[in-house]
Parts: sequence; C-alpha cells; structure tokens
Amino acid sequence: MEAGMKYNLSEISELIRDRRTITPEHYSDRVVHDEIIKNVLNSGIWAPSHGMTQPWFFKVFKGDARLRMSEFMSALYRNLTPAEKFMQSKFDKIKSRPELSSVVIAICMRRDEQQKILEIEEIEAVACAVQNVMLHSVGYGLGTFWSTPKLCYTDEMKEFLGLGAADRCLGLLYMGYPKADWPKSHRKPLEYVSEWITE
Ligand SMILES: Cc1cc2nc3c(=O)[nH]c(=O)nc-3n(C[C@H](O)[C@H](O)[C@H](O)COP(=O)(O)O)c2cc1C
Repeated sequence: MEAGMKYNLSEISELIRDRRTITPEHYSDRVVHDEIIKNVLNSGIWAPSHGMTQPWFFKVFKGDARLRMSEFMSALYRNLTPAEKFMQSKFDKIKSRPELSSVVIAICMRRDEQQKILEIEEIEAVACAVQNVMLHSVGYGLGTFWSTPKLCYTDEMKEFLGLGAADRCLGLLYMGYPKADWPKSHRKPLEYVSEWITE
C-alpha cells in the first residue's frame, strides 16, 4: 500500500472499473446466500442522503417469491401492452429473468413524511445506495443487473410492492454468479466528460 493511504486504492479503483452489468441469462445456478445479500445491502445503507432521510428500501424476493415477481411482471406487461405492440419475446424475457436469478431485489425509494427533501434528491440517494450494493457485489464475484422496464414505474408495481403514494419503485436488481467469463466494458475518456475552470 502506498504511504499515507488509508485503503488499498489500486484495488478499490480496479473493483470500481470491474463492476459489470450481467443479465440473468448469464448466471449460473449457484445460489447467492442470504448472508452475502445482507452484506451487500448493508453497504447500500451507507450511501449519503440529503437531510439523512435514508430513503432506500430493498424488497428482497427469494425462493418462490421470485416466481410471484415473474408472474406479476409478465401479467402486467400483457395487461398494459396494446395487442399490436405485444412481443412474445419481451414477455418471455420478463417472465424468465426472476426465475434465472437466485435473488431479485426491488429497489424502492420511500419518501419521508414531511417531504422536506426534493424527490430528485431522494432518487439520487437511492441510486448511490444501489451503486454501493453493486460495487460490494463485485468483491464477491457477483454480477448485477439494474433493470428498469417501464412497468416498474406503474401504480400496479407500487401496489404489488406495498409502497405508498409518494414512494417509487426505481427498478429491479438482479444478482448472480456469472457462468462464463467476467465481461469487459469501456468508457469515454475523462477528457470528453470533464472541463476544468481555473480562472
Ligand atoms: C438507472 C439505470 C437503469 C438501467 N436500466 C437498464 C435496463 O432497463 N436494461 C438494461 O439492459 N440495462 C439497464 N441498465 C444497465 C446499463 O445498460 C449498463 O450499466 C450500461 O450498459 C453499462 O454497462 P456496465 O454496467 O457493465 O458498465 C441500467 C443502468 C442504470 C444506472
């Protein structure tokens, strides 16, 4: 470790770059144990939030509950999609993903009663929490997939999850051990997405 550094920064940097979206189609059958799920979610709750509202809420679907999610999501897609736009392949994907993943976590934002913080900031805080969860997952060799089909933003989904009127579902987080090689990705270099103003 470099002198004066509190953590192993090269490993942290590598872990951050190694976080990858891996969809359930690429997960092996290996079960993600409850202890690991709790550990990664415990990193989620250490995200920052304006006014310390801690607006994140994780609804963990395991075992047969995954199948209820699968049934619910696919039925909702069928019910809300006009017949001419219905795609069997999309239906099958929505239905199969929770089955292919040993755990599915509904990412929720629970608005505090006074609503003292802007909604956008509460959503930002939950996104920070999700990133923490995804990063900690990399350490276990777990791929994650933050999935946001439009169905997530419906009142039906809110009701399914038992959320209040001002709360929001921000998507589903699938998690699993990849069955093949860990994927690689790329980014636009920093020079393209930053500007330094010095005078
Ligand atoms: C808020 C959010 C929502 C996302 N929703 C979807 C989605 O609905 N479908 C999808 O294929 N990927 C989704 N992704 C994942 C992105 O496709 C992925 O992060 C991007 O392709 C970069 O790949 P990487 O995560 O492996 O670096 C989402 C990511 C974020 C941050």
